[in-house]
Amino acid sequence: MTTILQISDTHIVPEGALVSGRLETAAPFRRLVQRITDIRDQIGVVDAVLISGDVSDDGSDESYQLFKEILAPLDLPFYVIPGNHDAREPMRAAFSGDGYLPETGKLNWHQKIGDIHLIGLDTLIEGEKDGMMDAPTLAYLVHTLTSIGHEPVLLALHHPPFKTGIRFMDDIGFKNSVELLRVLSGFGGELRIVCGHIHCMMTVSLGGHIAISAPSPSSNFALDTRPNAPVGFMDMEDGCLLHKWDGGFQTVRIGPESGAGPFPF
Ligand SMILES: [Fe+2]
Repeated sequence: MTTILQISDTHIVPEGALVSGRLETAAPFRRLVQRITDIRDQIGVVDAVLISGDVSDDGSDESYQLFKEILAPLDLPFYVIPGNHDAREPMRAAFSGDGYLPETGKLNWHQKIGDIHLIGLDTLIEGEKDGMMDAPTLAYLVHTLTSIGHEPVLLALHHPPFKTGIRFMDDIGFKNSVELLRVLSGFGGELRIVCGHIHCMMTVSLGGHIAISAPSPSSNFALDTRPNAPVGFMDMEDGCLLHKWDGGFQTVRIGPESGAGPFPF
């Protein structure tokens, strides 16, 4: 069995700063780390943590350092991919010591973790909010999947490769889903796609695979499909996802609170 904990869209800013002038992000992330710590003996062995982009809100060196400090108590190997709020070179510098990021180019990587292959892909277009995979990234994916054969894959990218119904997020969505699906259609093993960006959990069937987006510890985007839906974030804490491989994939959401109980039936 292999277990990957997915945390997404932490949007960390330097200590004392607020996102968009009002949202605290470090404190909710600290609470999520504590929540995970509190249930570590319940959820079993976690092999690694995946952070699916928007690690930082402002791409600053300070935000990446604070992110690492907050995550450190979990004492687990962790892997990051960039989101539209991240800055590629500060991110590479902050996490290069862990040895899995390339020294140049897009932040694409592949790790064998337990029984599965974890692949992280870079969809960041610096200066833009939407995302895409450039030709070298798609070529990297083709090459990596070919080398993997038929073993299970957890494929991570920040931007969901599907329409969400959240209009203002779809406007800044992933631009080349067709090319991605063309690559994935040739893969013969089990493959699950995981992403972030929309700050809520959504499950979609995609070219014979399942794609799941993760919530954010600190904010949420409402599913408001009206043409005049207000644009903005909800000040709402959520949790993270736990992906288990045990002959098949299972994904469980860990909410931000345990609730009272358990009470006898
Ligand atoms: Fe985000």
